Amino acid sequence: MSMAGRASLVVASNRGPLSITAVADGEDEVSRGSGGLVSGMQTALAASPEAVWVCAAMNDRERALARQVHGGRLSDLPMVATALGGDFDVRMLPVDAATFRAAYSGIANSTLWFVLHRLYDPPKSPNFDAAWRRQWSSYLRYNEAFAQALAEEAAPGGHVMVQDYHLFLVPRMLREMRPDLRIVHFTHTPWVPPEYFAILPDDVSRSIVLGMLGADVIGFHTPRWAGLFQQTCRAMLDVDPPGVRTFPLGTDPDELNKLAYRRDVELAITAIEETVGERRVIGRVDRTELSKNVWRGLLAYRELLRRYPQWRGRVCHVVYNNPSREDLPAYREYTASIERLAGDIDDEFGTDDWSPILLEVVDDYPAALAVLRRSDVVFVNSVRDGMNLVVLEGLVLSEREPAVVLSREAGAAEVLGADALCVNPFDVSATADALHEALTMPLAERAARAARMRAAATALPPAPWFQAQLDALGPAGDASPPA
Ligand code: G6P
Repeated sequence: MSMAGRASLVVASNRGPLSITAVADGEDEVSRGSGGLVSGMQTALAASPEAVWVCAAMNDRERALARQVHGGRLSDLPMVATALGGDFDVRMLPVDAATFRAAYSGIANSTLWFVLHRLYDPPKSPNFDAAWRRQWSSYLRYNEAFAQALAEEAAPGGHVMVQDYHLFLVPRMLREMRPDLRIVHFTHTPWVPPEYFAILPDDVSRSIVLGMLGADVIGFHTPRWAGLFQQTCRAMLDVDPPGVRTFPLGTDPDELNKLAYRRDVELAITAIEETVGERRVIGRVDRTELSKNVWRGLLAYRELLRRYPQWRGRVCHVVYNNPSREDLPAYREYTASIERLAGDIDDEFGTDDWSPILLEVVDDYPAALAVLRRSDVVFVNSVRDGMNLVVLEGLVLSEREPAVVLSREAGAAEVLGADALCVNPFDVSATADALHEALTMPLAERAARAARMRAAATALPPAPWFQAQLDALGPAGDASPPA
């Protein structure tokens, strides 16, 4: 293989910094990729002209464009250069549609995401059958395509930063192709106890762990997830992996504030205020994602209104959901059930001059920022969550000294500590009580807690988070072992 790669820094993730879709009149629409991973990496990379970001083409239009441009380099397209928001280059891999679908929807989203967030319903799922095995073969091919592209892009002795569960096998594959590279793998999700990870077929769980161990540094958001990964290595391979490290991604207040005071956000705040008026707002912003637990969040809000009638007419639950993974039937059904439950709550409590709930299922980033600015209570009750950047962003953006009701199963609970009102995400009644406590907390106490939590939330913004991982790898081109 040629060692002609030119980039001293290469980042790899399934979803890239932009998403391109064909719109009706033959034009292309370019928007920013969604989710915590993308926003964190994008901010971190903005000032790295030497970097290349390798990602998958995720739809037909992206595949066609990636095949058209030289070496899959998107920055050759004029519409992309302006939208990138940084000097780095992007290479999109046009993995064929069927392989991509099986790897992304079948394995990454329906298997690995479900294992790592413990979303299975064991009486009937999972089933690792022959059809599933075919998907697993696609996942192998898709990981190989990434490893190959990274081997081509990286300069001798370069740094390669591989992101998340879509690419668990890449570090080992790449190490075998290019032993000179320094590799970090970062998992943005939780990890699970070894006995739960063992739900996967034995050869598969083993290749995943061995795949990750191909990296010099294996990063997680919090000590809890890093510790569970170490336990898994011990249980499965009887080894104590040396490179496991914790890098708790935080949020950048300057970046956020730049975005949150634009005119489109002001308009979105005005629109929210038309419904909520002066009432207290319990705000939440999520992807339409099973693990975010919006369903039990609504049940808890309903119980709050039933058991604490003093809040009727005085509070509004503003729920902003950004559509995600809509190709998975379970996600579409979940979102529909949330819309029905919100309707039931409205029917039970709504009056002529009070809507208890404002639910939007739409991709509207300014509106999401507006919800967080207007929240008196920032509410996150994920079943399980690697970090949850939204709660950190809510602390920075809320103009109301927010109280935080937070799932103890989110990585952010480890970062924010006792100043958040932490709940068991399955305990609907305890969550209703925590919402009541948040709404009744005196302003001085809220302000003191919010100030401490804000400091924790902004302790490691994307750029230093990224740099800390590079530092852990040692200097590019250096042959000595990483720190
Ligand atoms: C969030 C999660 C990441 C995940 C990403 C992918 O950001 O925190 O762990 O990689 O979503 O979501 P997608 O929409 O690309 O499937």
